[in-house]
Amino acid sequence: MRHCSSNFFYLAIIGLFALFIGSTIHIFWQKIFQSLLSKELTLRNNSRIFNIWKGSNEISMNMDFYFFNWTNPEELKLPGKKPNLIQVGPYSFIHKTEKVNIIFHPENNTVSYDTRKFWYFNPSKSNGTLNDKIFHLNVVAVTAANKVRYWSSFYQSSLSYLLNKLSEIHVVKTVDELLFKGYDDSIINMGKMAMGNVDNMPPYDKFGWFYLRNGSTLFEGNFNMATGEDDIKNIGKAKNWNYKNKTSYYKLPCNAVEGSTGEFWPPGRDNNDISIFSADLCRSVTYEYTGKTINHGIEGNKYEMGDKTLANHTLRHYTHEKTKYFDKITTTEDFFNVEHSIINIKNNNINNSLNYDTIDMGKCFCNGECSPLGLINVTACRYGAPGFISLPHFHKGDPVLRQQVNGLQPNDKDHSFYITLEPNTGIPLDVAARLQVNILLQPSNTIDLFKNVPKIYLPIMWFDLRGGTTDNLASSLRQILWLNKIGIYGSTILASIGGLMLIIIGVMQYLKSRQINDQNTRKLNMIQGNVQTEKVYMEIVAKNDENQRNDCQLYSKN
Ligand SMILES: *[C@@H]1O[C@H](CO)[C@@H](O)[C@H](O)[C@H]1NC(C)=O
Ligand SMILES: *[C@@H]1O[C@H](CO)[C@@H](O)[C@H](O)[C@H]1NC(C)=O
Ligand SMILES: *[C@@H]1O[C@H](CO)[C@@H](O)[C@H](O)[C@H]1NC(C)=O
Ligand SMILES: *[C@@H]1O[C@H](CO)[C@@H](O)[C@H](O)[C@H]1NC(C)=O
Ligand SMILES: *[C@@H]1O[C@H](CO)[C@@H](O)[C@H](O)[C@H]1NC(C)=O
Ligand SMILES: *[C@@H]1O[C@H](CO)[C@@H](O)[C@H](O)[C@H]1NC(C)=O
Repeated sequence: MRHCSSNFFYLAIIGLFALFIGSTIHIFWQKIFQSLLSKELTLRNNSRIFNIWKGSNEISMNMDFYFFNWTNPEELKLPGKKPNLIQVGPYSFIHKTEKVNIIFHPENNTVSYDTRKFWYFNPSKSNGTLNDKIFHLNVVAVTAANKVRYWSSFYQSSLSYLLNKLSEIHVVKTVDELLFKGYDDSIINMGKMAMGNVDNMPPYDKFGWFYLRNGSTLFEGNFNMATGEDDIKNIGKAKNWNYKNKTSYYKLPCNAVEGSTGEFWPPGRDNNDISIFSADLCRSVTYEYTGKTINHGIEGNKYEMGDKTLANHTLRHYTHEKTKYFDKITTTEDFFNVEHSIINIKNNNINNSLNYDTIDMGKCFCNGECSPLGLINVTACRYGAPGFISLPHFHKGDPVLRQQVNGLQPNDKDHSFYITLEPNTGIPLDVAARLQVNILLQPSNTIDLFKNVPKIYLPIMWFDLRGGTTDNLASSLRQILWLNKIGIYGSTILASIGGLMLIIIGVMQYLKSRQINDQNTRKLNMIQGNVQTEKVYMEIVAKNDENQRNDCQLYSKN
């Protein structure tokens, strides 16, 4: 009893300390966590993340190919008949990626690299063999016809003659030939001979969708990417592609090299859309935030490809400053005039409202002619092959597209294109890149082979590239997230305990002082009545003890 007050004092100090430390940690935790994370995540020579990215064997993805077997090509020109497509596959491959020619540029916090991709056939996950025969559109003939569309009649009639002699509207090839092995086609060789080395001619001697791609660095292009060394918010941003910050395939501003390269995402994700620069599509695409999902027991933000990428009229705001820059180059472009309007957006952070210009991105991606909802025109970046990329089975596309053929059944589970990011760290939990290749068939007056064909976006094949966190990575990630939670909740609990202690001590002191007052009053009465209890005696002693510690007097007893 004697040191009751000093005990309270120590407890109060501890409480105060806990409150202080707890709230300080709480306030700074996010900052501490982010800076620890930035240290871990920044791309530096020989960091763990660097080695994973560079292409250790820790990460491999799965790439499934599906073909549409075109079972009635002979009926193409018959009125009222639609192409019958039967999906075959999957032909499953293990897909690995490695980075080569890596050069760090500390002066501007970027890294430059080439990408080399490998595919290994995985029979156990496949439904079929690489020798399966597929009835496939004669893409070489379609491409040739498309290329000469605006050339002189001499070229057109020569090609018409050649195609009549040498080609049919379809080919029958094995899966292997259509993907990696490639097949000879006399039109390719003749084209090469006729044209010499004109640029914009494909550098191929064979045709195959992934011909020459296995193990090659020539297809992804050279990227210059931010490392996040200056600010972790920049990590993974594509700065240059093939040494330029613009592509030659679209008009400004659709030709900007922007968005992530798709491998790194800064920590601290919110619900804003994200974008990726895709070398395959030669442009950046937007993923729209669609909600939260759980993966490996970890909550993530899901972002999906939708109308902002697939529609032909997406509006986007640019600051005045930027559009002034577009103006010089694109004054005469119709896309700019059509949707050029000024809107004022009230920005709470800045006193003045900023002026934005609204640009119709659809117009500059259309390259003149627009296509229906759901198609991305990649003709310009595929050597003039009239290629159009969509989601598999024209998922999210204009229903007109799938009504042109038999055999398509889109569903969101199998055919959506998304990425799920753990929001605190920005680490991808689940990635599904699924794209379908379509070729635009259209009637031609000059090329006999294509006389009277209907205008159809004919689905050819699609692939499903799946990846994400491995079980190992997921459990480390869960630990990191636990650490974060412990930091947040631990500091909250600490601060609360400290606060609670102070309150309890305060209340107890208050009660005590009242009790002592009561007791003193009673004591006097009792002394007067000669009834002494030990308790009262001790109280008296305590009160008169000269050795009593000074600090006890902080709590006045009277
Ligand atoms: C594709 O269709 C053709 C003709 O109907 C058939 O002979 C062939 O076996 C089919 N291919 C596959 C892989 O099912
Ligand atoms: C395998 O392919 C055949 C036809 O090509 C199809 O009928 C079957 O459903 C496929 N099986 C799986 C598991 O996909
Ligand atoms: C790709 O190249 C690797 C290594 O050169 C080889 O092992 C693999 O079989 C090739 N894949 C295909 C589909 O040709
Ligand atoms: C950074 O510097 C390197 C080397 O000078 C250069 O190749 C690269 O284009 C630069 N990147 C940016 C974004 O300026
Ligand atoms: C696709 O792009 C090419 C080349 O940029 C262009 O000539 C063509 O008109 C476009 N086609 C459609 C249907 O959008
Ligand atoms: C844009 O897409 C819509 C929806 O598919 C379609 O109706 C419209 O014709 C397209 N616009 C142009 C200019 O093709």
